[in-house]
Amino acid sequence: MSAPFDLWMKDVQARMEAALLRHLPPDQQIPVRLHEAMHYAVLDGGKRVRPLLVHAAGALFDAPQAELERAGAAIEMIHAYSLVHDDMPCMDDDALRRGKPTVHVQYDEAMALLVGDALQSQAFDVLAHGDLLPAQQLAMVRLLAQASGSLGMCGGQAIDLASVGLTLSLQQLEQMHQLKTGALLRAAVLLGAMAGKQLDEEETAALDAYAVAIGLAFQVVDDILDATADSATLGKTAGKDAADNKPTYVSILGLAQSQALAQTLRSDAHRALEPFGDKARRLREIADLIVQRKA
Ligand code: IPE
Ligand code: IPE
Ligand code: MG
Ligand code: MG
Ligand code: MG
Repeated sequence: MSAPFDLWMKDVQARMEAALLRHLPPDQQIPVRLHEAMHYAVLDGGKRVRPLLVHAAGALFDAPQAELERAGAAIEMIHAYSLVHDDMPCMDDDALRRGKPTVHVQYDEAMALLVGDALQSQAFDVLAHGDLLPAQQLAMVRLLAQASGSLGMCGGQAIDLASVGLTLSLQQLEQMHQLKTGALLRAAVLLGAMAGKQLDEEETAALDAYAVAIGLAFQVVDDILDATADSATLGKTAGKDAADNKPTYVSILGLAQSQALAQTLRSDAHRALEPFGDKARRLREIADLIVQRKA
């Protein structure tokens, strides 16, 4: 019998906290203020959904623990960098993140820019140092690069900023969500699986279908929570999307239809995992978590 999901999740989160600390430059290292700000942005906060996905996908193919922690740390650093920049005045201009003042508020704007830049470089350095076969390691580095760049997260952020005040079609909205949020979640799933084996076409297709479903579901739920939860629960400013006139699933489909869509996507995710049987238990549980979460 494997552990209940909650215990498994807490164990991975605790191991990831240690791994992130290990893979960041020490905060006493010069320049101390930059390294302190990097620790502030990454450590002690966040749900760690991407590292959880790395571990859950790694479990499909018995990937080595150290490599999952490494890939999990790399992708969480990219994610933390994306949040630091997302919160800056030139983007969403947010003052609260993970229950703390945002990096540009706690430090300053130049430091927030540099924290993001440095976390991105650090992520690739960490991932490039893995002990897998060189071709496999290189494929993982390329995957993370593509998921983070203009064809992935950065591209989605560009569309998001260009869409303020516009009414997007459902197709345009889905494309924006798939890029700004889905791309990194998909990378997390594939990185975990790739740390276990070289994937064949069928495995890649099944994991892709799972990742597309949870990637979209994650941002649909993020939009729902922005409209329905409070800032204390979220640890970030609630009601920000409507205040900023951002097109979201809630603004386009309404609340009830957005909730129904999240449930449909959860079923899609479960269906995609059928070929993997019992080994996909954690991935199924994470799909449930993504749709049912309250923060
Ligand atoms: C928030 O991500 C930004 C989105 C991509 C929607 P998370 O909800 O994963 O944020 P943390 O890491 O738990 O703080
Ligand atoms: C941010 O989307 C996605 C990335 C940071 C790439 P949001 O702007 O909706 O995220 P929150 O709501 O501020 O966490
Ligand atoms: Mg944003
Ligand atoms: Mg934001
Ligand atoms: Mg949001």
